[in-house]
Amino acid sequence: MSQKESPVGTASQSDTARRPSTHVRRRVGGLAVAGGSALLLAGCADTPLDTMAPESPIANEINNLFIGVGIVAVIVFILVQGAVIYMARRFRVAPPKDESQIYPDEDFPEQIHGNTRLEIGWTILPTVIMAVVAFFTLGTLFNLDDVSASDNRQIQKVTVVGQQWWWEFQYHLDDDDIPDIVTANELVLPVGEEIYLDVTSRDVIHSFWIPALNGKRDAVPGRTSPWTIEAGALGRFPGECTEFCGLSHAYMEKWVIGVTADDWQVWADNQMADAEVPTDADALAGWEVFSAQCASCHVLNGLTSLNDTDAADSFEIYDGANRLIDKQTQVSGAAPNLSHFASRSTFAGGIFELYENIDDVDYLDLAQAGDLNRGQLEAWITNAPEQKSNAWDSPTGQRGMTPFEALSSDDVDHLVAFLMTLD
Ligand code: CUA
Repeated sequence: MSQKESPVGTASQSDTARRPSTHVRRRVGGLAVAGGSALLLAGCADTPLDTMAPESPIANEINNLFIGVGIVAVIVFILVQGAVIYMARRFRVAPPKDESQIYPDEDFPEQIHGNTRLEIGWTILPTVIMAVVAFFTLGTLFNLDDVSASDNRQIQKVTVVGQQWWWEFQYHLDDDDIPDIVTANELVLPVGEEIYLDVTSRDVIHSFWIPALNGKRDAVPGRTSPWTIEAGALGRFPGECTEFCGLSHAYMEKWVIGVTADDWQVWADNQMADAEVPTDADALAGWEVFSAQCASCHVLNGLTSLNDTDAADSFEIYDGANRLIDKQTQVSGAAPNLSHFASRSTFAGGIFELYENIDDVDYLDLAQAGDLNRGQLEAWITNAPEQKSNAWDSPTGQRGMTPFEALSSDDVDHLVAFLMTLD
């Protein structure tokens, strides 16, 4: 049987067999669409991530591309679906009365197979549409990692390191390989300066994304991927990890904080200062707790343990001419560097606010004027896995902070007092 003779007859026989279930399938299809839409809307609700609120030149370009391609797609959709609906109605055959004589061949409309002009037309038209879309898409893609930053920029490069389940930012203010500032989860940037990023990972694949500022770039272990970012406006811009990376993938956030160039310099000078031995008695007791419980994972620049107050040597290695040649130990690789913990607005992978009502306080004044979110911080210190799923007790590879339920309430108070001196 050739296809031309009776293609519909064959299809109809199987259709007849399935016919009773048609309305069931329709209902299931309707449910699937409704469920999918509900899920989609639920995903959008209550999230600060908005891909259509660009706050930087490149995010603007991505948004314009999206809208342009979207308009083309909607026009094509309407034309194609309109044609399908038109043809289905125009060439509809009345249902047969006799099931053995379904849709006889003579009811077929005129067949147009072999119409060269039509076939060339519907080959060329989509090709032209796709070529136009590709032209603009490729242009934007190339612009995404094109670094046009000026030579006298304040930041040469920021190495972004993804880790289960937080982000580390290593600022390079000069051309050497030694990071000058190491911080976690909050990338503070001078507004209007395009910053060169090296994105990598310490464990599994993560993905770096600040929807308002740029596109996504995967953080792949053993590889550094070039990327750029620019804060086009003052403010806090949220981002999520966008590559599934285990238990707390959904709780691996980060923030870009856009500040003025002058404020950025003030911030950077402060970040480069070492942590200091606290003078307050409670904070000093807290440092003791920190040294015993926290220092095996968390680094404080310039401070190691109570018995080694002259610890700067452990963190800074000088050459014969007294020039600093290594500050690598600012990076612990196990947990965030906490030298300036109190200067950040969030903690625990950017998911908890360290201060309440942070929008009311200038970012640079948080440690001095911020309203400490003490309850959340204490809950985190005493039992982190309860606040954010992790694998602290995994026999095959511990990830995340261990619970410290044995700490007395005095210990916790002192620890918080000490952490708050790290501004
Ligand atoms: Cu890191 Cu998902």
